[in-house]
Amino acid sequence: MIATMELTINKAEQSKLKDISLENLPFGKYFTDHMLEADYENGEWKNVEIKPYQPLLLSPSLAALHYGQAIFEGIKAYKNADGEVFIFRPYDNYQRFNVSAERMQMPSVPEDIFIEGMKQLVALDKAWIPNQADHSLYIRPFMFSSDELIGVRPSDTYKFLNILSPTGPYYNAPMRIYVEEQYVRAVPGGIGYAKAAGNYGAAMYATAQAKKRGYDQVLWTDAFEHKYVQEIGTMNVIFIIGDKAVTPDLGAGTILAGVTRNSALTLLQEAGFTIEERSLSIDEIIDAFKSGLLHEVFGTGTAATISYIKELRYKDFVMNFDTDKWQTAPTIKKWLTDIREGRREDKYGWMVKV
Ligand code: COI
Repeated sequence: MIATMELTINKAEQSKLKDISLENLPFGKYFTDHMLEADYENGEWKNVEIKPYQPLLLSPSLAALHYGQAIFEGIKAYKNADGEVFIFRPYDNYQRFNVSAERMQMPSVPEDIFIEGMKQLVALDKAWIPNQADHSLYIRPFMFSSDELIGVRPSDTYKFLNILSPTGPYYNAPMRIYVEEQYVRAVPGGIGYAKAAGNYGAAMYATAQAKKRGYDQVLWTDAFEHKYVQEIGTMNVIFIIGDKAVTPDLGAGTILAGVTRNSALTLLQEAGFTIEERSLSIDEIIDAFKSGLLHEVFGTGTAATISYIKELRYKDFVMNFDTDKWQTAPTIKKWLTDIREGRREDKYGWMVKV
């Protein structure tokens, strides 16, 4: 398939890089010189093109704008000390992208367009990969329905794009988290496991309410009892309880199968923790906190990498954590960064060379 993809490359005449400093970058604000675009029409993908980053011309009747057939991924590229470029676990994101596509009744994207196209795009814009700690090149593949028709049905046409953003940390400091009991993110049978745009839009109201109360994000709970925890904001969540790393399981389809989640669990196992993927109630979390067994709580995500939680509030009960004294999350974060930047052996084969 890779041999058969016709990819047109039109290079930008000038680079915008001279106008941007790659230090102390905010998340997702700047975009590189090029983007990849492909069209799905008549049951096949065509017009695969890397071209200068530019606005899209869209009809007001574009189906995605009305009914939300829109999915995306988040992936990161890094440079090692020799300047070689690697992408972190892109095949895992590729697989998840097509799981999301299936759930949203969208076509799957072939591997050559997703992976090979991404490699070529990153290679072309590799000068944009920042060197600073906690920085990387964020890769954002996405797809949306592109029929110009406001009848409710799956579109016949779709666009797949990939854009790149040199980026700094998503969350700068340990977070305060509000345990959500009124609004829900996902229900069994819903789209919680899909990286669908609507999941993020639907989360914004509850998050804004939590922010008004002084919290950074919410910890989502199950829709029936508001008792079993799911995710934190845009991240998976891991609890270090005694010598166990406990995280909600993926069984109910309410949780995104995070690539960073899986990577952190793999490294936690390597560090000697027993991994438990299972239902975890807020009562169990509070009991563990009261008995001194709940040592650390952190979020995992591509954008966020590993983000420490310094406060969890459930009703009037507040759990505070002294993140400066933590051992586990900082170790896992360091191992992950060292693997990504080539200072620790990549024994799981996560880094894909560009
Ligand atoms: C990611 O972690 O890559 C995400 O997609 C989260 C957020 C930036 C939407």
